[in-house]
This record gives sequence, structure tokens and C-alpha cells, in this order.
Amino acid sequence: MRFIRKMLITAFLLGMAAVAFTPPLRAEVNGPKIFGKTAGGDMIEEYTLTNANGVKLKLITLGAAIAELHVPDKAGKIADVVLGFDDVAGYESDQNQYFGCTTGRYANRIAKGKFTIDGKEYQLAVNNGPNHLHGGVKRSLDKVVWKAEVLKPENVVRFTYESPDGEEGYPGKLDLAVTYTLTDRNEVRIDYKAMTDKATPINLTNHSYFNLSGAGAPSVLDHELTLAAEQYTPADADLIPTGKIEPVTGTPLDFMKPTKLGARIEPLLKTQFQGYDHNFVLTKRGAAPTFAARLRDPMSGRVMTVLTTQPGIQVYTGNFLKGQKGKGGKTFPKQSAVCLETQHFPDAMNHKGFPEVILRPGQTYRHACIYAFSTE
Ligand code: BGC
Repeated sequence: MRFIRKMLITAFLLGMAAVAFTPPLRAEVNGPKIFGKTAGGDMIEEYTLTNANGVKLKLITLGAAIAELHVPDKAGKIADVVLGFDDVAGYESDQNQYFGCTTGRYANRIAKGKFTIDGKEYQLAVNNGPNHLHGGVKRSLDKVVWKAEVLKPENVVRFTYESPDGEEGYPGKLDLAVTYTLTDRNEVRIDYKAMTDKATPINLTNHSYFNLSGAGAPSVLDHELTLAAEQYTPADADLIPTGKIEPVTGTPLDFMKPTKLGARIEPLLKTQFQGYDHNFVLTKRGAAPTFAARLRDPMSGRVMTVLTTQPGIQVYTGNFLKGQKGKGGKTFPKQSAVCLETQHFPDAMNHKGFPEVILRPGQTYRHACIYAFSTE
């Protein structure tokens, strides 16, 4: 009896010790360091998160953006899989097509930049043909400098920004927080949170362009995509949803089974989309991030799984990339990367039947997105 008790106590103590010595699940954070200075004289900071497997995530305060994301391939070789620039001048130039940034206040398009809330009409900047795209012109969330802090003991980087009432035409003072976590399971998790003092539309996302062979690889069309989407929102000549929700079956948008991005892109190249640039309706959403997409690069064996709480995902195959020069002198031609933007539907405030995108005082906007990396 005494022997058994002693054994149990020893086992309990050993268990406790194992818990105490389990390495932290979170990455180490290095920063702030100075990334550079904007043309307007603002200092831009960088923070680097590194985990036990050598995964490295570099974040910058300009646009609360992902500037680098280094992950191993099937042979353990690390490469940076997101497009970006080496310096602030690159991010401020017209060569920057929302690389890695936090996009908003309303990511994606709003028809003619117009919407009405409680009988009041609002007019936003028109910056994409006749429409509003990605939050506006000068003070969209990708162009502002966010405040960053490292939260301990969690080892996460939290960016905050207070967008004043009326900024870029949007109503309400909006308090924003975007938190990046890197775990030892090679997951990059992004948690978005926002509160307003006036009813306002909101749709935040991350605009990273991925090429799992490494940024600068010439094409992403060999990557295989799987989506948890049975439906999509068809769009008009200016990429504004018609308001319908239609099945993907029998169209080039059916990614319910793993399919190469290039397999059925041909007919889309001659359309207004110039490739994939579509909002997919994700099935089965919940309060916890649920499977949305899986991207696999057969060459490197890298796999990225995307989980989210959001109802939609914009799949954009970098159709408007123009061969610009980015990090390390690499060039980014058309269709050399893909964005998998977890979000609400485009122009949702103007379509009955699309999930609600108006945030009201007293409510909290939340969105979680996980980009999980593995190899195969
Ligand atoms: C949109 C594209 C747009 C691109 C700009 C994407 O989110 O879907 O239509 O050209 O952003 O970088």
C-alpha cells in the first residue's frame, strides 16, 4: 500500500516537472529594431518572431504587415514564402500592391464607394475603376504607422491603431488591434479586434502574397489548392458581387478536391478577373477558426493550411503583379503568388443576404486567421 502511494506521488511529481520543463509553445520575439524611415519622417519598427523549428516571421509597423515569413521545405531548407520589399521606400512606392499588409477599414471592393447606414449615405474614395478598394487612398490601414508592443509572457506582437472618425470617409472612431502569434507547431495566427463609437462597416484581412517555392519563384500555378467552399459570389465587370450566391460545381472555381491553380485558369485569363480573383463562401463557420483552404507546393513539399472564423475567402492569383523588383532583387511577375484573404464578402453592406458587416457601438469585431505550415 505504502509502496503504491510512493509510486503515485513520484509519478505525479515527475508529471509536474515535465509540465514545468515543456518548452514554451510560442516563438521568441526580437524587437523593436528600426526597419527604416518613411518619406514623411516616421520611424518604422520591425519585430522578428522565431520558433524552435527555425520558422521566422518579420513584422513591420507600416501597415501592421508581414514583411518576411521563412518556413522549411520537405528537406528542412528554409525559404521566405511571402512577397515584400527590403526597405520602407519599397513599401511606400507604387510597386507595392498591398504586400503583406493589414487591409481595411474595408478590405476588397465597395460599389461606387457608397453605402447607407441608418438612413445616412456615405461616400468613400473611388480608387479602383468606379469602386472603392482596400480602405481608400492615403490613410487606408496598409499606409498608416501602427503602434507595436510585445506582450509577455505570451510572446506575441500586438499592433494597435486608432483611426479617427471620418478617416478616409468612414464613420466612427475605430480602435483596432491586430495580434500576431507564432507557435512551435509552425502556425502563424492573426487575431483582429475592433471597436467603434459610430456604426461603421468593417472588413479586415491580411494581404500576404504566398509562393511556397519561395518569393521570387516565377509562378504559383503549379501549387495545388483545396477550398472548403461549395459556393462563391459571382461578380460583374468591375468585380462587384451581383448579390447572387452560386455553386462552384462545374466551374473552374471548384476546389473542393485538391486542384492545381493553373489547371483551369485559362478561360479566366480573358475575363475581367484575369485569373482567380473571387470570393468563395466558406462552409461551416464557428467561433473558433475552422478549415478554409490548403495550399500545397509539390516542388518544395511545403503545405499551408488556412483556418478562419470568417465567412469568405478571396483567392487572388496575383493577376495584376507587374514584374516589380522586391526583396533581394527578386522580381514578382503576374501570377507568381497567391493571396488567400480570409474576410467578409465584398460590398456586403449593399447586398441583403450577405453576412452583416456593420459594427455598432458596444459591439466588438473579432476575426481569427491561422496560416499553418507543414511539409509533405
Ligand atoms: C483584390 C484584387 C486587387 C488586389 C490589389 C486583391 O485583394 O482581390 O482585385 O487587384 O487585391 O492588390
